[in-house]
Amino acid sequence: MLKLVILISGSGSNLQSLIDSVHKNGIAKILRVISNKADAKGIQRAEAAEISTSIIEHRDYSSKQDFEEDIVKAIDAIEPDYILLAGFMRILSNEFIAHYPDKIINIHPSILPAFRGLNTHQRAIDAGVKQHGATVHLVIPELDSGPIIQQISVDISINDDAHTLANKVLKQEHQLYPDVVKALADGRITIRDGVVYTQ
Ligand code: GRF
Repeated sequence: MLKLVILISGSGSNLQSLIDSVHKNGIAKILRVISNKADAKGIQRAEAAEISTSIIEHRDYSSKQDFEEDIVKAIDAIEPDYILLAGFMRILSNEFIAHYPDKIINIHPSILPAFRGLNTHQRAIDAGVKQHGATVHLVIPELDSGPIIQQISVDISINDDAHTLANKVLKQEHQLYPDVVKALADGRITIRDGVVYTQ
């Protein structure tokens, strides 16, 4: 069974979809949820599912290094197979990422490599593209640039604004992230030396 640690900062709706799918199919176990915000709704979701939580608030630390060292301690106590970023809003250092080769995965709300960074939904509308979506990818030091694991797309309709589009994408994200975890658990996706292999 895959051992997972999930890092969040906010609502945790992706976390919820992972909790629900993992409980249903029993292919992975979420052993800890770490949030850099005490008031993240995702913490309540984890507690409701009886998953242990760590609140490690970046603003309590004078340096990023100290902040990340405490995250590393919380993760290494678990020795997870994968560390899933699910709406975790801090940029991780190169040192942190190098500490977990082939293990840190992120979900980003765009069809990468389009729209790296923030405000992806509004930017997609402003750009006039007809499709938008989400990407699950391996984390490397360059932001939102790691090898792509799996993607979904949704059509942008003339009536969409950033809010409706975000909801459309999020609904698909809730399918995408659990699908990737299942594929990792089944061995249909493997990650070695920074390369993603899909069967
Ligand atoms: C999602 O859109 C995810 O792609 C992005 O942040 C959002 C998190 O939403 N990285 P939630 O906290 O999972 O509800």
